[in-house]
Amino acid sequence: MNEDSGECENTTYDFEKHWNAAYQKSPITNLGWYEENPTPSVELIEACNLSKDALIFNAGAGATTLISELLKKGYVNMMLNDIATAALAELESHLPPYKNAHIQFVVDDLTNPSELLKLKNVDLWHDRAVLHFFTEEKQQKAYFDLLKAALKPKGFVILAEFNLEGAKKCSGLDVFNYNEEMLQERLGSDFELLKSFNYTYIQPSGNTKEYVYTLFQKKS
Ligand SMILES: C[S@@+](CC[C@H](N)C(=O)[O-])C[C@H]1O[C@@H](n2cnc3c(N)ncnc32)[C@H](O)[C@@H]1O
Repeated sequence: MNEDSGECENTTYDFEKHWNAAYQKSPITNLGWYEENPTPSVELIEACNLSKDALIFNAGAGATTLISELLKKGYVNMMLNDIATAALAELESHLPPYKNAHIQFVVDDLTNPSELLKLKNVDLWHDRAVLHFFTEEKQQKAYFDLLKAALKPKGFVILAEFNLEGAKKCSGLDVFNYNEEMLQERLGSDFELLKSFNYTYIQPSGNTKEYVYTLFQKKS
């Protein structure tokens, strides 16, 4: 099945099962969100000038290539989250050796967190293509409450989501599209927008997806 087919309109839908199946049914390089080079994220992270031991939290990390890139650049303190155990197992299997780095894997639901409620002192929160799956107000509120509680003063937030011209579905699921003003409104006046740009991502299939990338910093 194509990863963009299928339907989901039901609030009782089993998202954990959906995402585990997505990672189990095809190689990660065939997934519609697979990035060979996560260049926009890497550039925004480098723009933060973090120390290499800063705590980087990857929300809904999936099997992203970003973590390998960050390890190569010397970042040594990362927490990798996903709702799908299969995603984090794939991610771990593709990482280069990292014996000098502190890498934590946390299977938890960003919209109904349990383990993640302990999350504190995050220097950078990174999310590519995760928040836009939370179509309900209560899911969005839970996500932003978690982010705000976990982030340090002066901490950074990178949110990269489908923009208003972007797709209305992905992986068979409805999405909620954003622009930078909507993300600023969600984060509130305690956060300053440092950078924002629209970005056309070319999928492995050759199709394109329109994103908005944003970098915010929490005020002191
Ligand atoms: C489109 S993929 C993007 C993965 C990764 N961020 C990337 O850029 O390759 C969306 C990811 O969000 C994860 N996800 C979806 N809902 C989630 C939730 N409620 N809590 C945590 N992760 C979730 C999925 O399992 C999937 O790995």
